Amino acid sequence: MTLTTSALAACCAGLYGHPLVELIAGQSLHPGGLATTRRLLAEVRLPPGAHLLDAGCGLGASARVGALEFGLAVDACDVSASALHRAAVLAEGVGARICFRDASVVDLPYPSGAFAAVLAECVLSTTSKRDGLAELRRVAEDGGALLLSDVTVSETVTIPEPLASVLCLTGAWRPGELDKLLPSAGYRVVRGWDESEGVSSLIDRLEARVGLLGAIARVAGHAERLEAFGVKLDQLREPGSVTAVFEGIRQLVDERRIGYRAVVARAV
Ligand SMILES: C[S@@+](CC[C@H](N)C(=O)[O-])C[C@H]1O[C@@H](n2cnc3c(N)ncnc32)[C@H](O)[C@@H]1O
Repeated sequence: MTLTTSALAACCAGLYGHPLVELIAGQSLHPGGLATTRRLLAEVRLPPGAHLLDAGCGLGASARVGALEFGLAVDACDVSASALHRAAVLAEGVGARICFRDASVVDLPYPSGAFAAVLAECVLSTTSKRDGLAELRRVAEDGGALLLSDVTVSETVTIPEPLASVLCLTGAWRPGELDKLLPSAGYRVVRGWDESEGVSSLIDRLEARVGLLGAIARVAGHAERLEAFGVKLDQLREPGSVTAVFEGIRQLVDERRIGYRAVVARAV
């Protein structure tokens, strides 16, 4: 099954702001979590008050780190209204001043050259990479930084839909794609590193939380409530179920066919 980029975005947009997804996945919605974000931000040593854009901010966990730990002036955007609403509540709760906007990474409502750095974590794999990179380049100042982290897959991986889309695998970066698209979008790569271990730990955490949630729901007699969210407890352990897919993904990571990559690039 082939999904268009707009179908892909629509599928994922509603999901990321869902309370059940936050419960299971947490607030930082990419492999490697905030440790990867902190490393990306630390690599570029921005002065306090410098302007950062978090494009595809999800629940705003990285944006909060940029504002509170690095003292940056942060703008953040996403196409998911529910994620943005939750992100604004969470930011307010910890006193982080972040300007959230409902906007797509392929059509950003910011002036050209507005940002010293743009952060794009696990978002370009959910939309048109070429258009997204061009927009991120436009809003970055000359010499500004692109801080990117995203899912990579080898040519041979086929994961069934819609799961592949939900896990950002459908549009994941293919071998050589980053090296080709970044220079043609006006970036020079200055550093890159592998964060694939983060995929395995994320899968471990998701599996543990799904299991825990199932156990609690059973004990508390709330199975039917979970079913209202589309989660059928009895199916969790069947072949083709969530548990089996987690195991399959762990294996693909071990075989280095699914990975996660972090890149720091400069706008030239
Ligand atoms: C895997 S989540 C990552 C969220 C956040 N960057 C993080 O790492 O916690 C992907 C996010 O990208 C958002 N998204 C998808 N397509 C987008 C687009 N075209 N423009 C902006 N955000 C988009 C989704 O709504 C979702 O919140």
